[in-house]
Amino acid sequence: MKSFFLGVLAVVAVFLVIGYVGVITGTLIPANADGTPGKLERWAARQSLKATIAREAPSGAAPIPANDETLNAGIKIYGDNCIVCHGAADGRSSTVGFGLYQKAPLLGKHGVEDDPEGEIYWKVDHGIRLTGMPAFGHTLSDTQVWQVAVFLKHMDSLPPAPNAKWRALKNPAMLVPTDKLPKQMRPKSSG
Ligand code: HEC
Repeated sequence: MKSFFLGVLAVVAVFLVIGYVGVITGTLIPANADGTPGKLERWAARQSLKATIAREAPSGAAPIPANDETLNAGIKIYGDNCIVCHGAADGRSSTVGFGLYQKAPLLGKHGVEDDPEGEIYWKVDHGIRLTGMPAFGHTLSDTQVWQVAVFLKHMDSLPPAPNAKWRALKNPAMLVPTDKLPKQMRPKSSG
């Protein structure tokens, strides 16, 4: 029995040493932002995010109505805080959003209209750990976080006035030249 436990301890020690050497040599967790995440990393990050949101995100509808006032305020907040990474209505990638690890999703193209409002609110409020997604809960008011969440929820069905405002927003960052983008991220017209 004693030798069995010693054997287990030896195996654990070997894994710890491999892990330690992997970390300090930068081979297990490389520090570059221009790599592609491995399957295990993607799985762990997704599971953890899903479980945290299930536990913490508010359920039910937003506490403010999705009227023009809310949507216009949400669009203004998006233009001031989010567009640099998540892009404008044209769904074009900026050098900033494209260079991040993980790449920032282009919300004008692949929006989050299908997600519950509470989930969008949670992501904006708390951010997403180990990605470029910042937490805005300490810098925007609770109402402002809801306003931008409600705008994202209704992005594909905006009334005319907010829609015009949204389409007029321009990304202040430099856009990635189309030929530098992988095929799936290119605007439709360029093939
Ligand atoms: C510095 C860049 C950056 C800024 C600024 C930023 N985000 Fe993000 N955001 C990200 C990245 C990167 C992700 C992807 C995280 C991941 O892969 O899980 C993300 C993810 C999200 C998601 C989840 C998308 C999905 O498909 O599930 C939402 C919603 C979101 N951001 C909203 C916002 C809003 C609203 C703002 C502004 C108030 C904002 N973000 C500002 C980088 C940014």
